Amino acid sequence: MSYPQLDLSLDDLLATTRSVRKRLDLSRPVPRDLLTECIELAIQAPNGSNQQFWHWLVIDDERTRADVAAIYRTGMAAQVESPGWMSGIDFTGPDQQRIAGSVEYLASVLHEVPAIVIPVIEGRVEGGDLFTQASLWGSILPAAWNFMLALRSRGLGSAWTTVHLHRAAEMAECLGIPPTSTTQAGLFPVAYTLGSDFKRARRMPAEDITHWNHWRKGS
Ligand SMILES: Cc1cc2nc3c(=O)[nH]c(=O)nc-3n(C[C@H](O)[C@H](O)[C@H](O)COP(=O)(O)O)c2cc1C
Repeated sequence: MSYPQLDLSLDDLLATTRSVRKRLDLSRPVPRDLLTECIELAIQAPNGSNQQFWHWLVIDDERTRADVAAIYRTGMAAQVESPGWMSGIDFTGPDQQRIAGSVEYLASVLHEVPAIVIPVIEGRVEGGDLFTQASLWGSILPAAWNFMLALRSRGLGSAWTTVHLHRAAEMAECLGIPPTSTTQAGLFPVAYTLGSDFKRARRMPAEDITHWNHWRKGS
């Protein structure tokens, strides 16, 4: 079965696939075969040597969603305690305040989101050299983004999240994910969106961050 798609150009799809939190429709169920259709598209993504070491854990059972949401919230608390690379970010500006409010909202309703998806890749990066780390992440993150695009094109939305990874071991225990031989790549709440009119994000101009031929030279 192929689910209907929005009338969006490819450029619009790429430019308007936002992190959706406050506009997730918590009241409308998401059919399993629709999720499977999106995962089928996700796994068209490139991956190292086509080994397809990926797995997709879909949580749509009410009790398990509640357990997962509780772990997500403890991960968020840990993030606040220990911001890591985010410690340099100024969170006082209006944009960051808006994002923070939206992030808080998602955490508070996560148990109500119809489906939660955790992409998992076989392997671990600990102790691995740069090649190993890049190969592992590069073999799951493009598929995760494909998944978000496939959702968006069908009127659904998600938000790329990572805070639960502060509690990855607890999540693995909760869901039966092999804890020492796999890596969770993130957590994606999935729901239909309330409306589908998402806008382009404000980003710095490409020319400011593009380097031609040499890091320092202008041209
Ligand atoms: C690696 C990564 C980690 C993120 N972690 C979280 C998260 O834990 N919780 C959350 O609500 N949003 C998270 N986000 C979403 C970002 O806040 C969002 O992408 C950013 O604010 C830009 O908004 P946009 O995606 O709508 O363009 C994450 C995004 C990325 C790419």
